[in-house]
Amino acid sequence: MCAMHSVKAYQGARILVADDTEELLTIIQLTLSTIGAHVSLAHDGKQAIELLHKEPFDLVLCDYDMPHHDGMQVLREARKIKPTPPLFILMTGKGTIELAVDAMREGAFHFIEKPVPPDELLERVCAALDNVMIAVENRALRNAVESHYIFSEIIGNSKALHDVLDVARRAAEQSSPVLVLGESGTGKDLFSRAIHFHSPRAKRPFIPINCGAIPESLIESEFFGHRKGAFTGAIENRKGCFEEADGGTLFLDEIGEMPLDMQVKLLRVLEERKIRRIGENVEIPVDFRIIAATNRPLAELVEQGRFRQDLYYRLNVLIINIPPLRDRREDIIPLAKHILRNSQKDLKTHVETISPAALEALQSYSYPGNVRELHNIMQRAMLLCDIDRLERCHLPAEVLKTAPAEHGEDDVIAAITSVENFDLKAAIKRAQEEVEKRLIEKALATSAGNHKQAAQLLGISRASLYNKIGKPEDESEAL
Ligand SMILES: Nc1ncnc2c1ncn2[C@@H]1O[C@H](COP(=O)(O)OP(=O)(O)OP(=O)(O)O)[C@@H](O)[C@H]1O
Ligand SMILES: [Mg+2]
Repeated sequence: MCAMHSVKAYQGARILVADDTEELLTIIQLTLSTIGAHVSLAHDGKQAIELLHKEPFDLVLCDYDMPHHDGMQVLREARKIKPTPPLFILMTGKGTIELAVDAMREGAFHFIEKPVPPDELLERVCAALDNVMIAVENRALRNAVESHYIFSEIIGNSKALHDVLDVARRAAEQSSPVLVLGESGTGKDLFSRAIHFHSPRAKRPFIPINCGAIPESLIESEFFGHRKGAFTGAIENRKGCFEEADGGTLFLDEIGEMPLDMQVKLLRVLEERKIRRIGENVEIPVDFRIIAATNRPLAELVEQGRFRQDLYYRLNVLIINIPPLRDRREDIIPLAKHILRNSQKDLKTHVETISPAALEALQSYSYPGNVRELHNIMQRAMLLCDIDRLERCHLPAEVLKTAPAEHGEDDVIAAITSVENFDLKAAIKRAQEEVEKRLIEKALATSAGNHKQAAQLLGISRASLYNKIGKPEDESEAL
């Protein structure tokens, strides 16, 4: 009984019970109160329909034979409720199995033959409520996933990104194949999902396949599916991804890695729109949209004979070409701030802002790993940062190496206050050393490395400068 969830899980479930027998209503109400459900009672069909239009219910438990409107009429009214009709269990007298079948056909979840033992009643009700809960959870998950893959979650201020977004928005309205190009980490996956979730196919599956990650021996079965026993290891019937994506989108990631013989088969499916599972004779019609992505130069692969030209032309209809992050530097700061906001909860950090000096450093780096690399840099820096502002000193060496040597007082403060066991005297000493080091760097830079001039700028002797920078005097440059 109530196997899937603890009784607590059903508390507050809203159930409408309709029956014209007073004693039965009382028994059912008592039984359902043991799981904490909120029960409303109707004494005939008319009252049941009125209540259905007045309150939301998760489940209706309804007798068939009632005055005014019978159980089937109540079922039809219940099915019209939007957006989510309640589940419906019809209670029938003995020998009315045809009626029960009709009810299932009209959308009833189940039927129960009267008289109903309380145990059986409870079991059926709990099974129905489990279904309601799964549907609610699925809807919530789906909403969470979809809200992640919307165009407004693709961040950036550059014209280059906005141009690509315009093409992607138009692509979402079409049904022709889309080819998404861009270096690793530029957002090919993100754009592909957003196109799907903005397309008329949004409510149907998005099936991602990494063409480079399937062993050659399994690739055909992965795409076409198979019949049980079609080959060793085919222990059950299985749909392939063409069928899985029916009505939706098939996302062929790393398309440049697809073996040549699979390319021929894909082209045939794109032309015929039919597939046959391995070991089957029946042809199954399939309706999917292709979005293919690659970080490799497909045109070059075609020239080298490693990618079929006919397939290339077939895919090369709508092209989304995402530029590398270094070619759209206006996107770096908005992206960094977006990553900071989005990661606060996951990383459980209190970092709230990024210092101007840290932003300047982030802005000047080249990001060979594109947005993914910026994401990793930001998250790592946030983990290292135990103050509420992310500073230059939290950024990795490779970023600082290319950053202009601009040091603000804030960085010094951050550097000395982020140490464990903070001690004011030691901190002031470190700050002095830090400021001195930076002034020397600045003087050396201003004097183009001339130690005599740098020493003059600093108002110290050359010997003292050498002492501070740890350089022996005999290595000094000729004056
Ligand atoms: N413009 C953007 N706005 C917000 N997040 C982005 C943007 N571009 C990329 N990202 C994020 O950067 C990360 C990498 O993006 P994605 O996985 O889509 O890249 P990819 O091009 O598919 O990379 P690969 O070629 O390595 O598969 C993801 O976390 C993605 O959400
Ligand atoms: Mg990807």
